[in-house]
Amino acid sequence: MPAFSATAPGKVILFGEHAVVYGQPAIAAPVAGVAAKAVITPDISALKGRVLIEAPQISLAADLNDLPADNPVAAAVSAALGALEIDQPPAFKLRVNSTIPIAGGLGSGAAVSVAILRAVSAFLGHPFTDEQASALAFEVEKLHHGTPSGIDNTVIAFGKPVYFVKGQPPEFMRVEKPLQLVIADTGKSTPTRVTVGAVRAAWQADEPRSERIFEKIGALAKEARKALEAGDNEDLGLLMNSNHELLLELDVSSPELDALVAAAHSAGALGAKLSGGGRGGNVIAVCDIAKRAQIRDALLSAGAIQVIETTIG
Ligand code: PMV
Repeated sequence: MPAFSATAPGKVILFGEHAVVYGQPAIAAPVAGVAAKAVITPDISALKGRVLIEAPQISLAADLNDLPADNPVAAAVSAALGALEIDQPPAFKLRVNSTIPIAGGLGSGAAVSVAILRAVSAFLGHPFTDEQASALAFEVEKLHHGTPSGIDNTVIAFGKPVYFVKGQPPEFMRVEKPLQLVIADTGKSTPTRVTVGAVRAAWQADEPRSERIFEKIGALAKEARKALEAGDNEDLGLLMNSNHELLLELDVSSPELDALVAAAHSAGALGAKLSGGGRGGNVIAVCDIAKRAQIRDALLSAGAIQVIETTIG
């Protein structure tokens, strides 16, 4: 039998992280330069129901039945089997690889889930639609985040820029003018559930203050949608700067993130901000294509351990 493989891209949140958990709009886009890949090889010599999982990046090599139900890789496999109502699948080996930095705000968890859901469902003869993959990955996301908004699984499963409001059908967006992005990794990371928990604790301590910040972030996301649809990338840059300031107020930035944002500004970016959960992870900078290389160099000199150049739209 042939091997079955599936991939899913990374993602960046262009606007609205954290506030999106509280009902404000956010904008995210897929990043095709990095991806998670799941490969399934049928194991005809093993007994039915035997599933071996290998994920070298997280040093995982185990039998599905020996993994705790809340292990995110096991949970994605079980979610696929559960949705297809298959208790005892033909034996198979699943190998997961990803070039998406872990806990870096680029959606590695959701991308791994979507790739696994796609590969397992294709192997079992019932490939999930993007909608099904997104909904099932959302369930797995709850293990990563606790209270996910659903933006990661949505943008990654559908692979299109999205204007997203929690609990509402996603609105896929037209990007009028290709957006040049430089994505720089601080090399430090904090799990999203930690930063989401910290934002929640601050919200519980002073709800009006947090709500005011969330509303301002939501207003920026609405403006950014108009700018993206009008191809006004200069305005987008300014909106990104404002979004970063508000994320500072939410206390989810870090000295490393702020240093990369400052380096992007000095090198002539139109705007820059942290992207994703924060307190580590990645900075995104929007720029004119002519300045992309100099911004990349400036980010590397300022301490980025990896830089990805990508185009949205
Ligand atoms: O997975 P990350 O680190 O890109 O964070 C997702 C964005 C948050 O708004 C912080 C959480 C969420 O569920 O929307």
